[in-house]
Amino acid sequence: MRMASKELLDKLNTAIAMEMQVAIQYMWQHVQWSGVKHFAVKDELKSFAVEEMKHAEMIAERLFYLGQKPTTKPTPIFVGEKLKDMLAQDKKDEEGAIKLYKEILDIAWKEGDHTTHKLIRGVLSDEEDHHDTFVSLLEEV
Ligand SMILES: [Fe+2]
Ligand SMILES: [Fe+2]
Repeated sequence: MRMASKELLDKLNTAIAMEMQVAIQYMWQHVQWSGVKHFAVKDELKSFAVEEMKHAEMIAERLFYLGQKPTTKPTPIFVGEKLKDMLAQDKKDEEGAIKLYKEILDIAWKEGDHTTHKLIRGVLSDEEDHHDTFVSLLEEV
């Protein structure tokens, strides 16, 4: 009955797996902080972790409405030891998310799925903020 393509549904599920990954990743990086430099970033990591969890939930609600069960498996989580390694990976993961969301936006637009398009536009704007913050933080460490 729903009109979403398999390609769109699969990409939304990939997005959910990535959102769960970074939600846990930022949470554990926030928990495992130590030292003065970590002190500056731990609040950002904590608030980003919560935002990623909300992304996962919103996209899962949409995917379920479109007739597919959301995955329960996050993509591989990287916590890291040194702050610089943590932030470098986080920046890379945000770049991956931005790329995926742009692909989803193109597909949703083509399929006339304006609700998914609107939802993902909001998520993309959050990821661009996260990416911007990680780029700035990396310059400081
Ligand atoms: Fe996200
Ligand atoms: Fe993000």
